Amino acid sequence: MTKLWGGRFAEQTNALVHRYNASIGFDARLYDEDITGSVAWAEGLAAAGLLSADERDALLAGLEAVRAEFAAGTFAIAPDDEDIHSAVERRLTAIAGPVGGKLHTGRSRNDQVATDFRLWVMRAGDRLDEAIGDVQRALADSAAAALDLPLPGYTHLQHAQPITWGHWALSHFWPLARDRARFAAARRSAAVLPLGAAALAGAAFPLDRAALAARLGFGDVTANSLDAVSDRDFAAEFLFAAALLGVHLSRLAEQLILFSSAEFGFVRLADAYSTGSSIMPQKKNPDTLELTRGKSGRLIGHLTGFLATLKGLPSAYDKDLQEDKEPVFDAADTLELALPVMAGLLRTLELRPERMAAQLEAGLLATELADYLVRRGLPFREAHHVVGRVVRLSEERGVALTELGLAELQAISPHFGPDVAEALTVNAALAARDLPGGTGPGAVRAQLAAAQGRS
Ligand code: ARG
Repeated sequence: MTKLWGGRFAEQTNALVHRYNASIGFDARLYDEDITGSVAWAEGLAAAGLLSADERDALLAGLEAVRAEFAAGTFAIAPDDEDIHSAVERRLTAIAGPVGGKLHTGRSRNDQVATDFRLWVMRAGDRLDEAIGDVQRALADSAAAALDLPLPGYTHLQHAQPITWGHWALSHFWPLARDRARFAAARRSAAVLPLGAAALAGAAFPLDRAALAARLGFGDVTANSLDAVSDRDFAAEFLFAAALLGVHLSRLAEQLILFSSAEFGFVRLADAYSTGSSIMPQKKNPDTLELTRGKSGRLIGHLTGFLATLKGLPSAYDKDLQEDKEPVFDAADTLELALPVMAGLLRTLELRPERMAAQLEAGLLATELADYLVRRGLPFREAHHVVGRVVRLSEERGVALTELGLAELQAISPHFGPDVAEALTVNAALAARDLPGGTGPGAVRAQLAAAQGRS
């Protein structure tokens, strides 16, 4: 068998070197993008007068035949196939005859692979956008189902102030909205056509690059052929968007792992989204969530590894760039499983309001007491100090904040009045925070409506 570039070589490639060099094992999944790019290229060559109409039609028919073989799973990869580009060209020439050898006119695998990969990233971005949107819908549905359900809010994982389930669930919605914007930006970076750059200096034929770009769904053509064959910013941007999405999913997973523990018990995972222990019969493990938390490490690794690959590259194409595909493929594959699993887990999550209520202790209302004094004219710093003394008294007496009598409060500050009891409730604490973005019931309703308009 001969290689695409075999002409100047007298010796066969060492077998290990062939394996080392070959990317067909992972880039075969670019077949559809590769053939779509080649179809447009054949039409461009014909439009530029470099192919007759008959030659063009023979190439198009041959390319569609190759595509059909891949789609049907009948394409036989030959031992000498180096990558998807050489494999498609070999098979095309076998089907269409010597005219197959004309397809590569004015083109290099350097601008070809960049085009294929950009197309793939654009399509993957579209699929991920859909999958992220579904997790957002699951979060919004969960919020809607228990919008006003109170639970403790935490900072430093310590009881802080009361919030509602609706507010909590939607707090995980907005990071995903930003993730979608980041994937959309990566897609725009990808949608710039490198074809016409050829190996590095540009094709020696008057091809209409703008027409090619429009035909392939790209928004623009690259401005510099050297940059065109080595620019992988779109892949790095995609990997960053994937890594940060992974971080967001990991944080959601971590919080649900905590919430599903015996200590919190705020939620129960459905059996279908949990796993058992081989030795402890009572166990129901949140493995799905732990995997999502764990896989965020792998997504971050793909980004940092790929940036390291890029940083030392001299001008134009270097074979290092073949290392671009596996991290991007794996990041997309990882998320295309993690996202629907998370959506399903959220949709089957059981809430346990009684367990949340049991944790709504009076300490969560200490800030209410300070805000109460502020409404009565006390500077906040002073109010904070007064309430600190109230908290200490309640601890000394071993009673809850809400169980102290008015006389005891007034002994600490004369600003306490008989209406203090009304301010010291979970509902009052929630209702007070009704400004946009707050956990108050009206604000969370407005937030939900905004979220539903965005997912
Ligand atoms: N398989 C190669 C890649 O993925 C295609 C480009 C090869 N170009 C070259 N000059 N060897 O990057």
